[in-house]
Amino acid sequence: MYKCALVLAAGQGKRIKSDLPKVLHKVCGKEMLKHVIDSIRNSGIDDINVIIGKGAELVKERTQDRNVSYSLQAEQLGTGHAVQCSKEFLQGKKGVVAIFTGDTPLIKQSTVERLVEDHINNKNAATILTAIVDDPTGYGRIVRKDNQVLKIVEHKDCNEEELKITEMNSGIYCFDIELLVKALDKLNNNNEQGEYYLTDVIEILKSENKVIGAVVTDFEETIGVNSRVQLAQAEEILKNRINLKHMENGVTLIDPKTTYIGIDVEIGKDTIIYPNNILEGNTKIGSNCLLYQNSRIADSTIGDEVDIQSSVILDSKIGDNTTVGPFAYIRPESTIGKHARIGDFVEIKKSTIGDGTKVSHLTYIGDAEVGSDCNFGCGTVVVNYDGKVKHKTVIGDNSFIGCNTNLVSPVKVGDNTYIAAGSTITAEVKEGDLAVARAKQRNISGWVEKKGLKK
Ligand code: UD1
Ligand code: CA
Repeated sequence: MYKCALVLAAGQGKRIKSDLPKVLHKVCGKEMLKHVIDSIRNSGIDDINVIIGKGAELVKERTQDRNVSYSLQAEQLGTGHAVQCSKEFLQGKKGVVAIFTGDTPLIKQSTVERLVEDHINNKNAATILTAIVDDPTGYGRIVRKDNQVLKIVEHKDCNEEELKITEMNSGIYCFDIELLVKALDKLNNNNEQGEYYLTDVIEILKSENKVIGAVVTDFEETIGVNSRVQLAQAEEILKNRINLKHMENGVTLIDPKTTYIGIDVEIGKDTIIYPNNILEGNTKIGSNCLLYQNSRIADSTIGDEVDIQSSVILDSKIGDNTTVGPFAYIRPESTIGKHARIGDFVEIKKSTIGDGTKVSHLTYIGDAEVGSDCNFGCGTVVVNYDGKVKHKTVIGDNSFIGCNTNLVSPVKVGDNTYIAAGSTITAEVKEGDLAVARAKQRNISGWVEKKGLKK
């Protein structure tokens, strides 16, 4: 059977009080809307249409890597109206459409699969994903009679009796496409909010004696994020889910409460993670790594047996058996080799550092290509910026860069070279040479006494 999906993402989200469209707020490092799209796609539904309106261009831009189509809802007149705006997308289609709201980031792939299967197997006209919750404040209520679903009533439209119902509408459904399209024409906005509610389609189909099903799932999965408080709740639930997955895969988390791992991060077996680490974006960590306290690693690939402590690593690669930190800052587009050492207060920017090279302390390397087995003395600075343009520095293998060296770019340092401590290098150092570029020392005998400064 043909399957497609709609994701409603046109609202601003007034209750979240933000300039950013609500569905672009992130949970565990990924936009809520992308969480929803990914769960749908992973469940095997490929044809996904996102309904956009508020911040449409931005929503499009941020989801362009997800290969979805879009429908525009220029004015936000309610969730039913939003689905009406996808008419062109649904036109002429036969089969099942699953509908999601863009603000339920915790929905699992397995639940989407279960909902769609249940819908198809029972030949339902509509199937609602519901959950039982102690406090359903703000959610639509599932009204049943003799256990059969009759309708959904929005919180604001509930009477005393309906307010007591603890079965809530997750905002996720399956519909027969043709029946849905017909029912949409019958919606009105005679309700507390003056909106066209998608939820009213249920009562319309019921009045036509169509079969309405319900699939119950855990409330935790169906949390709809309307406010910052709910955003924090979603973050905590997903964080626990992610941490559990890594522990089950053989990663040690010393303190899961203070370990923040993005949803798409991969971590190898026997890696140990100490408190207060933040791993974000498209990050891959190898096996047997030791991530000591307080690092932030984003969009980076870390090899096996790497030790990292109290450092920031962005959009970079670190080779096997290398150590980083404490207090290193590795900026985007850097590649550090294997068995290398990037020590304390070292900043690396857009540079390549070869295997076995040691940059142990207080050093800046920017826009440089550094060979293997080099040693950087304390306080080396690559002077890559002349005030207008950034220049490149190239350093060969087995070079020894003395303490407090300045390498004024563009400059070349050959293989097997030595640079004397305190040198300011402005010209090429040829292979095998020692470069000394500092003023010669001069001692003035007895100067202190002559000046009357002796104590
Ligand atoms: C909706 C449901 C409610 C359910 C809850 C679950 C309706 C009428 N109510 O309420 O029964 O319990 O979700 O979380 O459907 N949107 C549009 N265009 C619009 C209005 C909304 O695209 O005109 C989008 C929003 O961007 C959002 C989603 O639809 O992603 C849900 O809208 P929201 O206002 O959050 O609905 P709820 O009041 O939470
Ligand atoms: Ca909502």
